[in-house]
Amino acid sequence: MAVTPETGRFEHLFAERTRGDVGEGIAFVLGFLGRPDLISFAGGFPDPLTFPRERASQLLEEFAATGESTAFQYTPTRGLAGTLDAVAGRLEAVQGRRPADDELLITSGGIEGLELVCKTFLDRGDTVVIEAPTYLGAIMAFRGFEAELVAVPMDEDGLQVDELDRALAAGLAPKLLYTIPDHQNPAGVSLSAERRLALVELARRYGFLVVEDVAYRELRFDDDPLPSLWSLAPDVVVQAGTTSKTFLPGVRLGWAAGPAEVTAQLVSAKQNTDQCSGALGQRMLEEYIRRGWIDEQLAKSRVLYRQKCETLLAALARWMPDGVHWTRAEGGFFSWLTIPGADATDLAARAAEAGVGIVPGALFYSDGSGGENVRLSFSMVDEALIDEGIERLAGLVAP
Ligand SMILES: Cc1ncc(COP(=O)(O)O)c(C=O)c1O
Repeated sequence: MAVTPETGRFEHLFAERTRGDVGEGIAFVLGFLGRPDLISFAGGFPDPLTFPRERASQLLEEFAATGESTAFQYTPTRGLAGTLDAVAGRLEAVQGRRPADDELLITSGGIEGLELVCKTFLDRGDTVVIEAPTYLGAIMAFRGFEAELVAVPMDEDGLQVDELDRALAAGLAPKLLYTIPDHQNPAGVSLSAERRLALVELARRYGFLVVEDVAYRELRFDDDPLPSLWSLAPDVVVQAGTTSKTFLPGVRLGWAAGPAEVTAQLVSAKQNTDQCSGALGQRMLEEYIRRGWIDEQLAKSRVLYRQKCETLLAALARWMPDGVHWTRAEGGFFSWLTIPGADATDLAARAAEAGVGIVPGALFYSDGSGGENVRLSFSMVDEALIDEGIERLAGLVAP
């Protein structure tokens, strides 16, 4: 007998924090990705061309041939010693600061880093400052722990730290401030050098923890990175990193670096989340770093994404009517459109009918604003289709 799925039978048993629209936003985005006919600017996924298939396969063969058991076993909760050492060395090379052994842990991706921070710090009703707009997954993580979200606006130089300063002086008392300083998702902008210094000074003065998400940091198009917040102020910053955009998301790996007292709590939160991140991925990542392969691939990935970004920006300039404006990313995956007077959710639905996937801006705000905004991701779309996709989209935008 066929089993038909029922809805509503268990809803009254669901925990309160999981009700409402907590997961619908992501489902909306993922829904687009299933349609092969779409020219999709929707998902922020890496281009599969950047996946090191052959090297991954070589490493797996080596692990099997040499009889290695570590790669196939459970690991300590903080991570394998070799992987921690390789990641610490890499942080030193690319951020200028090596975390001490008790300042680092391996996570199962950036999202798990955020989840562990939430689990460690947040009681119901605690205040978390976020950027407006910000990463949908982070909004969902903070909401999942019933935090009060206070959004501070951004401009071309990232989070408006002077606005934050005013709010703090007026009594705002957050436990956490979540920021994506480099090539932000979704806005595609980076926090200026002066604001980085000002932000960590505010954290010290007002006693909150900065949660720095560096998901796109290594995907800048030029070679001149700004200092990470964690390298500037390891006393008040916990950094959540991911290898999803620089290695492959299939292994679900990242790191968290922060004050020893904080990482000890994160390790203990991880103990009853997933106990440890997968050993196989950790060993692969370790070798991928040690053999210099990560840097070789990154150099190619940056060229690929820069090229796609330039093609997107040129298409926007060619097709969009006057009055529409957008950010010019210097790295990462995104450009953020402002279309005065638009209803972007309606536009997204009409765009899907016209064969184009976009994400409406409201998904990146905690308060439903963003109605005139659209996130365009250039990371996974076929470059040869970018111009046509933007032409179609522009045709739906009233002049
Ligand atoms: C800002 C940001 N942080 C974290 C993540 C998730 O990283 P991971 O795949 O490692 O969980 C993403 C993925 O899109 C992201 O955009």
